[in-house]
Parts: sequence; structure tokens; C-alpha cells
Amino acid sequence: MDGRACGRMGRTGEGDGVNSEVLKPSASLFRSVVPPFPLAFGLMLRDLCGLTRFVETGTYHGDTARLVAPHFERVITIEAVQARYEAIDGPGWPENVTRIWTDSAKHLGDFVWRNMPTLFWLDAHWISNGTGPDEDPLMAGISYCPLRAELEQISPYNGYYEDVILIDDARYFLRPPIGRGHGVDWPSLDHIVELLPGRFIFVHGGILAAAPNKYRPQLNEWLLEHPDPGDERAPK
Ligand SMILES: C[S@@+](CC[C@H](N)C(=O)[O-])C[C@H]1O[C@@H](n2cnc3c(N)ncnc32)[C@H](O)[C@@H]1O
Repeated sequence: MDGRACGRMGRTGEGDGVNSEVLKPSASLFRSVVPPFPLAFGLMLRDLCGLTRFVETGTYHGDTARLVAPHFERVITIEAVQARYEAIDGPGWPENVTRIWTDSAKHLGDFVWRNMPTLFWLDAHWISNGTGPDEDPLMAGISYCPLRAELEQISPYNGYYEDVILIDDARYFLRPPIGRGHGVDWPSLDHIVELLPGRFIFVHGGILAAAPNKYRPQLNEWLLEHPDPGDERAPK
């Protein structure tokens, strides 16, 4: 399904990719420092696996969507928090970016497309708004960690599609993450692997990656030539 038809407020931006007008200041929205998307790693995967589309869960301030837009035919970015979605509304979005306001736990499956091999950037876990995780009013009714539901929607297509899946902040899934909310469904590594059968799974730079098995030899070679820089995503 085309994202523009499906999201509650999906839309394509106007303009030529100039960013300055996009981010409206908002006193109520706290901005955490989020490490930039590792573009060189993403472009290596794009070229190796023939990926033409980028789908991100968790738009936040839109930095990654704008960063990758010149490098993919289509970019779709999904944000569940209405205030965050609206705070970056306005002109200045590259034309190939479609922004969707919805909970990725419910709707990511709408963006699994057969005709465009995709790099999925699953990054929609709760981020502090200046409050603790259990009392964040922005998250009312929204899944704090939609990863399990996201993978359940992608999983039936494993081995059929050419998609590559990147999960940010691998450390949150290697053991229950402290300070990220009690009773939140953070899937453990074994559950994640179960939901990604037939894939070559590895961690690089703090990101958990799953690529079609047929690329294992080339990826092994690349990984041997590029030592893991460590968890670049961890707060310093
Ligand atoms: C770590 S930030 C994303 C950073 C962004 N991907 C980047 O690379 O700049 C997490 C974002 O996910 C959003 N989010 C949290 N749960 C979500 C859900 N269930 N569906 C969609 N977005 C969600 C949060 O509101 C927040 O904006």
C-alpha cells in the first residue's frame, strides 16, 4: 500500500531539501542527543543488496529522514507522537520523503512492499521527553517498544523479500534495559532472532542488522575489513 494513502496524516513534503524551515521550535518538546544514522554503513548495504527505499520507525526531529533522502528513491518515516509529528511540519522536506503519523506497532506491515527492496531502520523506542518512562504523557496509548510487533509484521516476508533490517540500540535487546520503563515489552535477543529466520544477523556499531542470507560471504568480508567501532549509539 502506498504510504500516502495509508497513514492517518501521511504526506509528502514540498521544496528542495533545504532544512532550515522544517523544525518549528517547541518549548514543550525536549530534544535528546541522538547519534546520527551511520550513512556509510547504510550505503554499503544499499549497494550490496540493491535497496531503493528507506523506511524508518521513529521520525523524532527528522534528522535521519533528511540525511538519507538524497540516497534512496523513496523514504518513509513513521512517528507515533502527534506533537513530534507536528513540530517538524512545514516546507523544506525533500519530495521523496513521506511522513506518516501512526504507531508502527500497528501499521508497519502496510509499508512492506514487494517492488522496492528496502532498508528498514527500526528506531521507534521510547525516548525521554524530560520525564521518566512510566509517566511520559506524550506516549499515552503508544507502544513504548514496538519492535516485537514491527518484526511480526515484517517476518512473514522473510526469504521472499530482499529487505535489510537494522535495529538501533542493540544493547536494549541483549539484556533488559535499565531505566527504560517497567512492564514494557522489550523483546530479548532470542525472540528477535526467531522473528528473523533465514537471515545473516550481526551487530555493528551498536546496531543489530539482519540481511538476506545470500549476502553472508560479502558481509563477512566487509565486517572483517571494518572492525566494530563499539557501541556508538550508547550515551557517552
Ligand atoms: C530514538 S528517537 C528516533 C530517532 C530518529 N530515528 C533518528 O534517527 O533521528 C525515537 C522516536 O520514536 C518515536 N516512537 C516511539 N514509539 C513509537 C511507536 N510505537 N511508533 C512510532 N514512533 C514511535 C518517539 O516519539 C521518538 O520520536
